Amino acid sequence: MSIATVILAAGQGSRMKSDIPKVLHKIASAPMLWHAMQCAAQIEADKTIVVVGHGGEATSAAAHEFNADAKIVWQKEQNGTGHAVQQAMDELNDFDGDVIVLYGDTPFIKPETLHKMLAARAQNSVVVLGFEAAIPGGYGRLQMQGDSLEAIIEAKDCTPEQLGITFCNSGVICAPASLLFSLLEDVGNENSNGEVYLTDIIAIARARDLPCTAITCSEAETMGVNSRQNLADAEAIFQQSARAATMENGVTLTAPDTVHFAFDTHIGRDTIVEPNVFFGLAVTIESGAIIRAFSHLEGCHVARECVVGPYARLRPGAELDLGAKVGNFVEIKASQIEAGAKINHLAYVGDARIGAGSNIGAGTIFCNYDGVNKHHTEIGKRVFIGSNSSLVAPVSIADDGFVATGSVVTSDVPEGALAIARARLEIKPGLGKRMMDRLRAAKAAKK
Ligand code: UD1
Ligand code: MG
Repeated sequence: MSIATVILAAGQGSRMKSDIPKVLHKIASAPMLWHAMQCAAQIEADKTIVVVGHGGEATSAAAHEFNADAKIVWQKEQNGTGHAVQQAMDELNDFDGDVIVLYGDTPFIKPETLHKMLAARAQNSVVVLGFEAAIPGGYGRLQMQGDSLEAIIEAKDCTPEQLGITFCNSGVICAPASLLFSLLEDVGNENSNGEVYLTDIIAIARARDLPCTAITCSEAETMGVNSRQNLADAEAIFQQSARAATMENGVTLTAPDTVHFAFDTHIGRDTIVEPNVFFGLAVTIESGAIIRAFSHLEGCHVARECVVGPYARLRPGAELDLGAKVGNFVEIKASQIEAGAKINHLAYVGDARIGAGSNIGAGTIFCNYDGVNKHHTEIGKRVFIGSNSSLVAPVSIADDGFVATGSVVTSDVPEGALAIARARLEIKPGLGKRMMDRLRAAKAAKK
């Protein structure tokens, strides 16, 4: 059976008090929208449609960054959740399968839960995801009769008695495409908001004698983000479960509460992550590496047996091969560091390749930018770069080359050569002491 997901992401999210569309606010370094899209990807949806409105250009761009095949449809005016789903009708005209409606601001729905809904769909026309709400507040109430879902009643339209129902609507709904749009045709906007409610399709389906039911998930799973406080709470929930899952996979976290993960961080078993480490998007770390305290990593790959930090910064495109070492106050961007190479202290490496077994001394700077363009530096195998050198790209230092400390290297160094570029040292016998004596005498004369 084919599956399509329709992700509602048109709302403004006014309680965020933001110029950015709500679904682009980030959890675990990724737009909230990506979390919903990831869930769609995990159930292998054949089609993903994102309904955009407020900040739609930016939302579309973010959707395509995650999935270039995602279809975008516009909802110019936000006339309700049912109206939002109707905008996807043209995209699903000849789609013969089930549609799952997800919300862009509800990031934690699990793929297993959607599978349960799809299984229940086999015996039901419409399946809704519900949860027992601690405080039902403004949620739509699920009116059940045994296992049969009879209606969803929005809080504003509830009788006092119906407000007492604690089984609530998460918003996630599953129905065959053709039926969903046929039910929506009958939905009006005679409610206290004057909106087209998606939730009204249940009563309409029941009037047509079609079976409907609800599947239950935990309240935490359906958590929606409406305010900055919710955003912070969602971040904390994500981090808590990412830490637990990482340790469960065999990674040691010395102080788990201080390690921050992105939504796609991958770490191999027996790697050790010391306190206060930040992982941004797109980091993969193989087994048996050590990420020492206070390091910041994003968009990088770290191979087995590497040691990173303390206080290291790996930026996008940093690739560390087997056993490479990157020490304190070293920044690496778009560079490959081959097996066993060492950059142990205070250096900037950008747009470079460093060959296996090379050693980059303290304070070395790869001068990759001329103010307009970025240039590449190529370092061969077993090269030694003395401390406090500047390598002015584009430049190469061939295998077994040696750069003397304090050199500014502006041309290529051939294999096995020594490059030295600094003023020659002069020694003046006795002059040091004579100068100091003169200065001391002058100071004493002033008293
Ligand atoms: C909705 C449900 C309610 C449920 C609750 C769960 C309806 C009528 N009500 O209420 O039963 O308990 O979610 O959180 O469906 N959106 C659009 N276009 C619109 C309106 C909304 O794209 O015209 C999007 C929003 O951006 C949001 C989602 O749909 O992602 C839900 O909309 P929202 O206004 O938050 O609905 P609730 O009132 O919370
Ligand atoms: Mg809401």
